[in-house]
Amino acid sequence: MNIKPFSIELQAKIHLLMKYRRPIKLGEVEMSSKLVLAPMAQITHLPFRLLMGQLGAGMGISELVSAKGINYKNDKTLHMLSTSKDETTKGLQLFGEEIPAMIEAATVAESYAPEFIDINMGCPVNKVTKKGGGSALLKRTEGLSDLFSEMRKSINIPLSIKIRTGWDETCRNALDICQIAYDSGVEFVSVHGRTRSQLYKGLADWDFLENLAKDSALPILGNGDLVNPGMIYQKSLSTNCHALMIGRGALKNPFIFLESLVHESERKEVIFTPRDFLEIYFHYYDYLAQHFDWEPKIMITLKKQIMWWSYGLTNASHFREKVFPCKNLEELHDLVGNYFESFSSDPYLFRQKLHFDQSFMTAGHG
Ligand SMILES: Cc1cc2nc3c(=O)[nH]c(=O)nc-3n(C[C@H](O)[C@H](O)[C@H](O)COP(=O)(O)O)c2cc1C
Repeated sequence: MNIKPFSIELQAKIHLLMKYRRPIKLGEVEMSSKLVLAPMAQITHLPFRLLMGQLGAGMGISELVSAKGINYKNDKTLHMLSTSKDETTKGLQLFGEEIPAMIEAATVAESYAPEFIDINMGCPVNKVTKKGGGSALLKRTEGLSDLFSEMRKSINIPLSIKIRTGWDETCRNALDICQIAYDSGVEFVSVHGRTRSQLYKGLADWDFLENLAKDSALPILGNGDLVNPGMIYQKSLSTNCHALMIGRGALKNPFIFLESLVHESERKEVIFTPRDFLEIYFHYYDYLAQHFDWEPKIMITLKKQIMWWSYGLTNASHFREKVFPCKNLEELHDLVGNYFESFSSDPYLFRQKLHFDQSFMTAGHG
């Protein structure tokens, strides 16, 4: 995939904020920043990771990919393993429950050149857990040591896991799992601060995550409800976690990895305008078009993204009504162009309207 440079104006803004990034190492895995992109099904494919890397994410993890699908050599599944040397540090996430299948899939995934392989141990979806995969692995602790060490032995790159705090309120065993992972050669652990039975309800338990990061022998990436730059910046100053993982916040605000690096007072010097949003829209389109050769897929991905970016902006509902029925790319590009250009030249006003509420995207695979 060919990476596309930004305009000089936008690149200058990005450059100003990028200066605040500090590289980190989690075990053997190097990252350019401790603010990283969470795995999200149907979202964190190569085009999105590439874009978020250009916009400051220190690392990105693919959407969950079925070990069985890989082993059956399903074309669509194998395509999900695509990576690029131009993207930020990347991991490919696998889900499954049987050790031989996970080993076989991990060796295939490794050949797609990620920096590490990640195991999904947080997916709460019944279809996955009833077979014993995703968050059901949190309950099967007796088999975990073999799963981790066998997988680790079968690949030449680091292995990480992504978990929740536990299965339910009575079984918040993340610390035990981190210990098993440490003893079995896992490099680091991403933790979504909810139990499986919480799904996306309530708030992520950051007290739990802070204690876990203090007590765990492995580096912890804290995750859950980090949705705006102010809170992420404050959290980054005080957290025990080695890195902070951002999911839904990056869907609403593509500049979140950059804007969260500095205090608001310094950030005010760098304002991302409607025109910048438009520029990255066309970048994203370019990457999607290189990656997916099926126009309806490109259309639906762009439509979803533009809905998220426009959420809370003036006339957004009217705009969405026009976007939904839109039938071809040219029409969509025009609509999006006209919409973002319609904002007043006051960029402060434009950004103040971006907001996040707890009901946004409350179903996911981790
Ligand atoms: C649409 C969506 C898809 C998701 N898909 C995955 C996935 O494939 N693998 C995974 O480990 N977590 C997945 N998650 C969970 C996120 O990685 C993250 O743990 C969760 O959204 C909480 O973080 P946030 O509050 O920053 O969004 C998904 C979440 C959402 C909203």
